[in-house]
Amino acid sequence: MATYNTPYEALGEDRIRQLTSAFYDIMDSLPEAAGIRAMHGKDLAPMKERLAEYLTGWMGGPQIYAEKYGSVCMTSPHAGFSIGPAERDQWLLCMERALDAIDADPELREMLKEPMFAIAEMIRNTD
Ligand code: HEM
Repeated sequence: MATYNTPYEALGEDRIRQLTSAFYDIMDSLPEAAGIRAMHGKDLAPMKERLAEYLTGWMGGPQIYAEKYGSVCMTSPHAGFSIGPAERDQWLLCMERALDAIDADPELREMLKEPMFAIAEMIRNTD
């Protein structure tokens, strides 16, 4: 029986920020993620912020990203990068490790599993 209805209810804005901060720190240091790290700029701080804003809305909280940038479509911001299954899986691996880093409980992980895969798969733009 679920103790919350949305991932946002489980985490709140502060832990979503901790999650995205851990996510990019992991991307920055994990050898397996070097491929996708190289696609990003030197300073990951702005990305920590933008992903937190995005995920807050995506997880069922306030639509901060949509209000700021006018869209939640993730296709165009990624269109300039070649993202295949390997890149998708590197991204998902960083997210797994980031969920470990914030001690996400099993119920939350289960709730996120399929939608996280689905959105990463939707962003994939090459084989
Ligand atoms: C599938 C593998 C993915 C790769 C390789 C990837 C890579 C990237 C790269 C290279 C950027 C641009 C960074 C920069 O401007 O320096 C970016 C931006 C972004 N990504 Fe991803 N991404 C992936 C999946 C995702 C997913 C699943 C989400 C959301 C759940 C996401 C959310 C974002 C956001 C919010 C931005 C900022 C867009 C903007 O406002 O400019 N990405 N991503």
